[in-house]
Amino acid sequence: MNPTTFDLFADAEPVQQPRREQIGEQSYVLRSFALPWLDRLLPALETVLAAAPFRQMITPGGFTMSVALSNCGTLGWTTDRSGYRYTRNDPQTGLTWPRMPDVFFELAQAAAREAGFATFTPDSCLINRYVPGAKMSLHQDKDENAYAAPIVSVSLGLPAMFLFGGFERSNKSQRVPLLHGDIVVWGGVDRLRYHGVLPIKEGQHSRLGEQRINFTFRTAG
Ligand code: SIN
Ligand code: FE2
Repeated sequence: MNPTTFDLFADAEPVQQPRREQIGEQSYVLRSFALPWLDRLLPALETVLAAAPFRQMITPGGFTMSVALSNCGTLGWTTDRSGYRYTRNDPQTGLTWPRMPDVFFELAQAAAREAGFATFTPDSCLINRYVPGAKMSLHQDKDENAYAAPIVSVSLGLPAMFLFGGFERSNKSQRVPLLHGDIVVWGGVDRLRYHGVLPIKEGQHSRLGEQRINFTFRTAG
């Protein structure tokens, strides 16, 4: 291969180039957007999880969620027999949720801006852990005080099939494959769209092992 051919080939390399795909009027998938942040994100995640470890919670209907969760930020999303809600304290430790690391906040803001939401000040980051077989049924994010702010949802580790539906549970959903580093942002007229995640398939991710981690940033309070 002569040097000219080599240079052309390098320029054409498509891997890990961020791309923006529109999936709704005010909804986007930002491909690979989180990858450049990973070396700062993962140590910050470890610090959060040391203070507030993953745990499986019980739904109001009495089922144990297949997804394990934790939170950081002023408010954390929780569920138990008495309902879904945001709390300032981790019910397991009684302590406030760990503060949101700066790198989390900066990434969420940058992604929101890329999707057309110029100001986003998340006060909550739900951290979901999916092992193979774990899933998230179709739901709307409705536990927040207001719906003016978008949702910013970061995918790490094993791939997932994200379902992006309409405003009724029975509406047909788009299937959006999500890979390590992809971010979905939805808000504005799309803020209350149903969404979910199909059961995660078996696999090993080179960086995160046998799991998918999702961060969901919201303005909850
Ligand atoms: C959620 O809707 O809470 C999680 C979505 C995801 O894991 O991608
Ligand atoms: Fe959700």
